[in-house]
Amino acid sequence: MSYQNPKIAETAETLRQRFTELTVKTDILKAVELKALYAEIPTLSNDQRASFGQEINQLKSELESMVNGHQPEAEKLLPIDVTAPFDRNISLDKHPTLLPAENGSKHPLIIEIERIADIFYRMGFEVIESREIDDEYHMFTALNFPEGHPARDDYDTFMTVQKDKNGHPLVAPAHTSTMQHRVLKTQKEKLEKGEPIAVVIPDRVFRNEDLDATHEHTFHQIEGIYVGKGVHAGMLIATLKTYLKEYFGEDLQVKLQPFYFPFTEPSFELAVERPSILRKDDSEEQKWLELLGCGMIHPNVLKMAGIDPEIYTGFAWGQGVERMVMMKNGIEDIRHFQSGKLEFLRQFV
Ligand code: DAH
Repeated sequence: MSYQNPKIAETAETLRQRFTELTVKTDILKAVELKALYAEIPTLSNDQRASFGQEINQLKSELESMVNGHQPEAEKLLPIDVTAPFDRNISLDKHPTLLPAENGSKHPLIIEIERIADIFYRMGFEVIESREIDDEYHMFTALNFPEGHPARDDYDTFMTVQKDKNGHPLVAPAHTSTMQHRVLKTQKEKLEKGEPIAVVIPDRVFRNEDLDATHEHTFHQIEGIYVGKGVHAGMLIATLKTYLKEYFGEDLQVKLQPFYFPFTEPSFELAVERPSILRKDDSEEQKWLELLGCGMIHPNVLKMAGIDPEIYTGFAWGQGVERMVMMKNGIEDIRHFQSGKLEFLRQFV
């Protein structure tokens, strides 16, 4: 845009330059130079006044369109606060319509986690949440995975670029077992007082998976830990059987198959007789449902937490939540859980 009047042309140049330097772009509309030009109008002769006034208005529109044109750019530059409520990072004109809070409902996974946690709570277990970022020590070392051991590859997850003080990246935990060391270490005084450590830990876990109908990068597990004097595998079976009876409302047979986990010795996979609600037919494959990994806590895991394995023993288990919820509700694709789709979620209200 060019201006005939030299004074206006000069002011336009100054203001364009200033605009590039301003942090609050709308301040340009309050520039004293612009006000001074307006103040000059009454001093002008009648025939000058019209063209002068027109050019000032033009300049004002130019500045306004600079401000408006800049808006999307300013928006892009705003840092996104990922912890803010979702509408904070969006400008007001694009404000999404929020659903009334009373129309909200619990996520089907949360409903299930609360049911399971409640059963264990009534059995005397404390409920503690896991964490969604952890370190190599809690993910592997404290769970008796030797450095470079191939078993580490079974737990391929996401890592940060940033390294911790030992030069390892931080990890998005691939299982809730990362909490075992913390729980054992912080609760070991209970053992000295003659009380057991009894904790369940539900939370999100993460794996670097190829995604399909049965594999997600983010899913949920519930970990269980029980340590005390004279704790043995029979108590592990009794605890899990009691839980399953309460959960399915049926007294179901269970079987333990030998398995391998570095943090338990011996290690098992527990299969439960498929409850009637989850059984499609009478075939042998339909009879058993492999439900969870479990075992007697490895002496090294206890030792690393400062618990003497000669005096105390314990058991632990870890169960995935999604598969169970899918079977119970006939959900065919695990990706629905994270989709946030209301058509899906509203079925569980
Ligand atoms: N963390 C194991 C997994 O995700 C599951 C598991 C197995 C947990 C045995 C345990 C356990 O506490 O004792 O594959």
